Amino acid sequence: MLDLLIRNATLPDGREGIDIAIGDGRIAEVCPGIEAPARETLALDGWLVTPPFVDPHFHLDSALSAGRPRINRSGTLLEGIEIWGDLAPTLTPEDVKDRARELCHWSIARGCLAIRSHVDVTEDSLMAVDALVDLRRELAPWIDLQLVAFPQNGFYRYRNSRENLVRALDRGVDVVGGIPHFERTMDDGAASVKSLCEIAAERGLLVDMHCDETDDPASRHVETLARETERRGMQGRVAGSHLTSMHSMDNYYVSKLLPLMLEAGLTAIANPLINITIQGRHDTYPKRRGMTRVKEMVAAGIPVALGHDCVMDPWYGLGSHDMLEVAHMAAHVGHMTGVDEIGALFAGVTTTAAAALHLDGYGVEPGCHADLVVLQARDPVEAVRLRATRLYVLRRGAVVARSAPEAVALDLGGTRRTVDFLADGGALG
Ligand code: FE2
Repeated sequence: MLDLLIRNATLPDGREGIDIAIGDGRIAEVCPGIEAPARETLALDGWLVTPPFVDPHFHLDSALSAGRPRINRSGTLLEGIEIWGDLAPTLTPEDVKDRARELCHWSIARGCLAIRSHVDVTEDSLMAVDALVDLRRELAPWIDLQLVAFPQNGFYRYRNSRENLVRALDRGVDVVGGIPHFERTMDDGAASVKSLCEIAAERGLLVDMHCDETDDPASRHVETLARETERRGMQGRVAGSHLTSMHSMDNYYVSKLLPLMLEAGLTAIANPLINITIQGRHDTYPKRRGMTRVKEMVAAGIPVALGHDCVMDPWYGLGSHDMLEVAHMAAHVGHMTGVDEIGALFAGVTTTAAAALHLDGYGVEPGCHADLVVLQARDPVEAVRLRATRLYVLRRGAVVARSAPEAVALDLGGTRRTVDFLADGGALG
């Protein structure tokens, strides 16, 4: 007896009329016409079923704190760091956990069941680290949280960073972070990349650095990060987050950089909502978009994942942790509106992001965890276009979130019909 049978799904790769059999929290079978008794059946009428959204770059410790102790008037990265510097020492473990838990509930409701969150290790108490390690355990049945030790104030720039970062790893933080463009000099930035990769290599950990989050084309720490990755044999284990300086770099230099990134197996993580908001703030006109070269990297075969980065914090006052909103923004900022390009962006918030996190048992294949999202859309393009309603979110085979289909009732002078915005008029039309 199956626990759940999903009937008539469409998969992101285009297969239609697919049934998915689920037992013991895992996917047992994926094919058309499964005939087996099940405790519960979801008949889908062709809705898109995807493995869950994955956010590869977020900050749970600052989420939902916007306006405390003041709003970011300039909208710049640097004013955001200043505000966070004033707020962080005043936080309590309960406050951090309550806000982060609330954000995770939003995330589950949006079908995002894994988040890689950076956690600031500047405070000597490591209070936020302990709070989020606790929360990771508390929420493990419902969402995978992966924590990155993030020296927000610089690895060399702030005196206690090395010690605090190592202590955070000892307390259970999963990934080594960094912020080379915030160090005092280019040399210090490059040295920080080398030291942090050494710490990760010694401990067998993954690396994910905030890297070159600036409009300065001379900020080339990604080059050091890729070279260190290659030199230490850490291919596939290192991510460069943001990489916004690449937007402003000379094309000739980028033509040399992309093959190095590819050889190093570096994952690029763009954060389009934040990049389009924060970059270009020193420009008059034209104002640069600032997002890294997603289109060129995808074409070159470099894995590109997309993160949300912030929701209602000192850097970004908007958002509801919707990874389809992230992909939607990437399509616009990156001039990526072709069908295959939108498919690559959909992968950027699902499979490519899952690969960056080294998630176990992720996918819609027999043997994978039965973690699935049913979208009110027929394909990834429609999902991104509509930021489609998440009809069902499944975790280990159990429905943990459900939403009514979008259906607006029109009454136009007595003529009544329902609008659902689907390209074919939809099942509800
Ligand atoms: Fe970030």
